[in-house]
Formats: sequence, C-alpha cells, structure tokens
Amino acid sequence: MGWLSELVEERGAEALDLHAQTINPQFVKLLRTIGFDRRWARAQGAYLWDEDDNRYLDLLGGFGMFNVGRNNPRVREALVEALGLERPGSVQLGVDSLPALLAEELLRRVPSSVERVLFTSSGTEAVEAALKLGRAASGRTRVLSAEHAFHGLTLGALSANTAPEFTSRFGPLLPGFEQVPWNDLEALERQLAREDVALFIVEPVQGKGVNLPADGYLARAQELCRRYGTLFCVDEVQTGFGRTGRLFALEHWGLEPDLITVAKSLSGGYVPVGALLMTDFVYSRVFDSLPNAVSHGSTFAPNDLAMVAGLATLRELDEQNLVERSARLGDRLLERTRPLEERSVVHEVRGLGLMWAIEFEEPDGGSRTWKLLERIQPGLFSQLVVVPLFRDHRIFSQVAGHGLNVLKALPPLVVTEDDLEWFVSALEETVARAEKMPRALVRFAVVAARAGRTPRRKLARA
Ligand SMILES: Cc1ncc(COP(=O)(O)O)c(C=O)c1O
Repeated sequence: MGWLSELVEERGAEALDLHAQTINPQFVKLLRTIGFDRRWARAQGAYLWDEDDNRYLDLLGGFGMFNVGRNNPRVREALVEALGLERPGSVQLGVDSLPALLAEELLRRVPSSVERVLFTSSGTEAVEAALKLGRAASGRTRVLSAEHAFHGLTLGALSANTAPEFTSRFGPLLPGFEQVPWNDLEALERQLAREDVALFIVEPVQGKGVNLPADGYLARAQELCRRYGTLFCVDEVQTGFGRTGRLFALEHWGLEPDLITVAKSLSGGYVPVGALLMTDFVYSRVFDSLPNAVSHGSTFAPNDLAMVAGLATLRELDEQNLVERSARLGDRLLERTRPLEERSVVHEVRGLGLMWAIEFEEPDGGSRTWKLLERIQPGLFSQLVVVPLFRDHRIFSQVAGHGLNVLKALPPLVVTEDDLEWFVSALEETVARAEKMPRALVRFAVVAARAGRTPRRKLARA
C-alpha cells in the first residue's frame, strides 16, 4: 500500500472534524444540522457510498460536473497514460499539441460561427474572459444578463448576478452591468436599442430554478443582439456536454452565438477546466497585434491533464451515446414525474434532458404551516423533501436556488432507468408525506433553518 492509501485509511474518518478545523467550520455545521454529514468512502458512476457501504443515488452530480459519471474508468485511464508520458505541458513560451487537439474537437461540435478557443480553469473564469473580450471586441462597456442568472462568483461574473445572497457584502460590483427580466424580449430590446451594450450573456436553461426559455426567446434575443451590434453570449457551463439531451443546449434552438462558455463536465469531473469559444471577429479584435498576443490568460490554462480529460470525455460522450441517453432518460423522467403535478403542493415538474426540477407551492385554500415555513425562510418547504429523500431513501439532491421551493436533479448521464424508478418512488412517497406537513418534519426544518441560516447558500447554489 502506498503512502496515499495509508494516509486516507488512517485519517479518512476525520474528514468532517478536520475540515471544520482547517477549512470551513460553518459548512460542516450546516451539513450536521441537515443530516448530510456522511463520511463518504467511494464513488462510481451515479453513486456514492458511505463508510457503512450504503449506496446513494447522486442526483447532484457535483453541481453538474459528472456527466460521464464519477470516476469514469476510461477518462481515468487516459489521465494515467498521460502522466506516464511525461509530456511537455505548460511550456508557457511555447505550445503543445493537446490544447489545440481539444480545441479542434470542441470546434467540430459547435456552430461554425465560432472558430477560436481560449482555455480557462473554471466556469467563472470562462465568463470573465467573455466579459473582458466582449468589451474589447465591441468597443462598448455595458453588459446585460437575465434576472435569476448565475454565471459564477468572481467579481465580473457576480456583477451579472442580481441575487443579494451572493452579491451583498461584496460590492461595489463592476459598473455597466444591468439585468433584464428572463423571457422578456421587449425589455431586452429597450436596452439593446441604446446601441451601447457590449454583450448579452444568457444561460439557455437557467440553472437557478431550472427555468426554461419561452418558445422563440433565445433565437429572437440573438436576432436582436445582431441588429443592435451586441455580442450574443450563451453560457453552457451547466447545460453543456449532453446535460439537456443535446451536446450543447443551444442546438435545441439552432443558435449561432458569438461567444460560448463551457466548463464543469468538460474534464469528466477530474480536473478544473473551462473554455471560452468565440468568433474570429471577437478573437481578432482583441488579439490584434504581437504586443496583444497574450492579452488574456492564466498560468494553469490550458492545463495538460485538463486537456487529456477533455479529449477523453468527448470520446466517452460519443462512444457511450450519453447525449442520446440524456434525451431519452430525461423524457422518461418527465413522463414518470409529471403525474405529481396532481398533488396539491406541486406547482410544476419541468426539465430538458437530464436537467430536471419540481417546484412546490402553497396548497389551494392556503396552509398555515406553509405560511409559517415561508416566514421563517422562503423555500423552506423544499427541505421537507430534500432532507428525507437523503435520509430515508439515500438520494442526494438539492434546492435549486436560494429562497426557491424548487428541488433540482442533475444526475450523471450514466444513470439507469432503475435509478430513475428508485427516485420516482422515493419522490412520490416523500412528497406525499411532506404535503401533510407532519409536525416532526416541520420542527426539524425550522431548527435546521435557524441553525444553518447563512451557509444554506451553499446547498442552494445554481
Ligand atoms: C451557468 C453557469 N455559469 C458559470 C458557472 C460558474 O462555474 P464555476 O463554478 O466552474 O466557476 C456556473 C456554476 O454553477 C454555472 O452554472
């Protein structure tokens, strides 16, 4: 046994205490409060196992980074092979073939409007690149985003986000940023018509709440951007790589953006990665001379292992037909869960591919308990479902955004029909129980809300 295996075996059981001592005690307190304080032993595909070898179904999917499944063996093999090759990555003043090979593979899969790739190490950095390059290329400064958008937590990306739970305490944010209501073309056109907007950045399906675009919204938004000289940026960080039943969600509407941001599942969940895909127009307006040849970048991007994982992930998506599988299983999940809309507390079940959500609402005729929960913390009812799903059914899910009564699922695309049945029957039972709002469950939620008020944000991420 190597030193690493020994270390993990010796100290693994201390994970929660050690994290609390050295990293984030508030987060550990939150996990303990809501009963998510498992000691995780291993993971594979769509499952996690705790130290007692109980298997959990992972509908969180690492916030959408495990489309090809956790610890995918073929991506791992490629990484092990790459380490053995002792490749000359990150020469910095020099280039290697792997980034260009991954760029080539990405460009083969996106609309031909896009011709260049800039690699980053995360989604938020891809968004930062879009904002910077979009401003320089257009010669304009204003940036529009949609209400309820989530584009990351660095200052630029955060400036495109209106949610106070993320933005307050961190201001002032960048000047020139404004939000328009989601699905509102008139509001968008009013802003664009000023002809001073550098770019409009939009998620094709909003991660926070799993909000689907209205028919024609995105195509018309693109048209309006073209008309008024604004760059159209589609943020595929969460929706990319098969999540919505197409390799990229923009394919559902035949979009041809100027800028596309990707990250998360591109490296199979193994290595931090991100990329900005852009038109030649954007590229050549920014990197327009020798002094400007390195106008934007960062030390670790492109990282060799991220490139290898990216190449292996794209192969895996193709060879295992995971995009088609996402479309098929997504349809199945919707079909099996739509009947829940009959329940008095269920407002809507919605989704695209394997990006799925159920939204709760106060039952017809009103409910005093519902009102009490909302008063203590908006969106608290959804915890009456998320917590028992985890505790009683070993299903790992999340609330789809701060203050929202929406439960969201982003399972690895390798999930099986049996897994979906596991989820459907657990959900039916849990929603039926939560609908009665039994006193013990409500008390638990109230205590949890009071104890974990601040850090709950982490669970309710995009
Ligand atoms: C649509 C979207 N854009 C950007 C980001 C930020 O990505 P990262 O967490 O890798 O910085 C996220 C993360 O959830 C996202 O969902």
